[in-house]
Amino acid sequence: MSRLIVISNRVSVPKAAGAAGAQGGLAVALNSALREHRGIWFGWSGQETEEFTGHLNMQRIEGVTTATIDLEPQDIDEYYNGYANRTLWPLFHYRIDLTEYDRNFGEGYERVNARFADSVLPLIEPDDLVWVHDYHLLPLGSMLRQKGVKNRTGLFLHTPWPPTRLLVSLPFHERLVSSMLEYDVIGFQTQEWLESFIHYVSKELGLPITEDGTIDYGGRRIIARAFPIGIDFAEFVEGANSAEAREAHDRLKASVRGRKLMIGVDRLDYSKGLGERFESFGRFLTDNPGQAGDVVLLQIAPPSRGDVASYQQIREDLERKTGHINGAHADVAFVPIRYVNRGYPRSHLAGFYRAADIGLVTPLRDGMNLVAKEFVAAQDPEDPGVLILSQFAGAALQLADALLVNPHSTEHVSETIKRALEMPLAERRQRHEKLLASVCDEDVQHWREEFVAALFGQAEGGGADDTG
Ligand code: ADP
Ligand code: G6P
Repeated sequence: MSRLIVISNRVSVPKAAGAAGAQGGLAVALNSALREHRGIWFGWSGQETEEFTGHLNMQRIEGVTTATIDLEPQDIDEYYNGYANRTLWPLFHYRIDLTEYDRNFGEGYERVNARFADSVLPLIEPDDLVWVHDYHLLPLGSMLRQKGVKNRTGLFLHTPWPPTRLLVSLPFHERLVSSMLEYDVIGFQTQEWLESFIHYVSKELGLPITEDGTIDYGGRRIIARAFPIGIDFAEFVEGANSAEAREAHDRLKASVRGRKLMIGVDRLDYSKGLGERFESFGRFLTDNPGQAGDVVLLQIAPPSRGDVASYQQIREDLERKTGHINGAHADVAFVPIRYVNRGYPRSHLAGFYRAADIGLVTPLRDGMNLVAKEFVAAQDPEDPGVLILSQFAGAALQLADALLVNPHSTEHVSETIKRALEMPLAERRQRHEKLLASVCDEDVQHWREEFVAALFGQAEGGGADDTG
């Protein structure tokens, strides 16, 4: 079996089973994938250093070997807070209103990608498969090629890929996308993002797409395919059945005193539609005065990317909205929204999900959304909760038996909350059974196996036949 060299911006291994888990779908998925595979996870330590040295800090944590580097403050500013999170993240989530175009960000992005390439180079052996992740590192494959790396290399994008009409607003978009064409495999979460990418490559770059769907780039065949990511189902269910999960479940259940409970769990990010979600709940309370007092929304939202202004703003916005809705609908012994800005161990999250009657997962745009899948996995099959899911999450394609909503429509979400609260047990079970089958079958192991097979050139539609 070839070793996997996994490269992502951040390396995030939870230090102990009981510790607050890694936040963000990428970290959660990669932890699972790497525990199953020999290999190394390389990336930024999350720490800053006065002057970049490229020194590799190697560690073995919870069965995963990690190699990390520290970055300079200017790198963090221009590459992470800048190009990655002020330019590409909003653009890739269709928010050109929040997208900032600054030449220094672009330069910092290329500089840090080159630093990643230089630092990881000594770790790569001839038979290794190199698997790069996410929007922070799109040009890394081409930089590794320039340094002589001949290994099979793949990229998986955890976010959406924007429509061509939005992407062309990015200065130097051709340069960015062309740099991605040095990978052997480019993976997306869904067919929709894949199609947008193929549209760009054929219309803007004028490259031929072969009949089997591969991109013909100067005689090289690049596999571009959708590989929907899943959760570590077995691990999550084990956590959901643990004593800690039961304790977390019982504590939460007792605290709502027989009221119905809705749960949301999201990084505090404008893409997650939290403001719209709170407004929809406010509307539900106004439109259903008979039920106000009977339903609680628990929103767990750990702060994310706090150095970026749009994240500071969404945080302030949510604090205002929570105060407003609670002020209007609370009573002396009841508060409708419980808004919590912290992380929890994964077993506790599982217990919270299980305690909830409704999972409210309403991003405005999301590459996949693993929370929706975790909510399904955590339910009691005899008495399952109802998943309300945004039609704009990648997960909606696989989880079509959820109640799908347009998160922009507060009326639609409010009516759907009502429908979910009234759903008969038989329908809840029926829907849950189908959702569970999908979450269980298309899990993170399946995702990893499919991607690695494509990287080997073994997947259907694959144009290559060598491990490099
Ligand atoms: P994103 O990758 O955009 O953050 P996902 O829904 O795909 O969104 O993944 C989020 C992951 O982070 C999930 O596995 C979720 O359980 C985890 N997570 C989110 N909030 C918390 C929290 N407060 N405590 C622990 N884990 C969290
Ligand atoms: C999403 C992105 C990941 C990122 C995570 C957390 O899942 O796709 O690449 O790691 O959010 O964001 P952060 O900026 O804290 O790493």
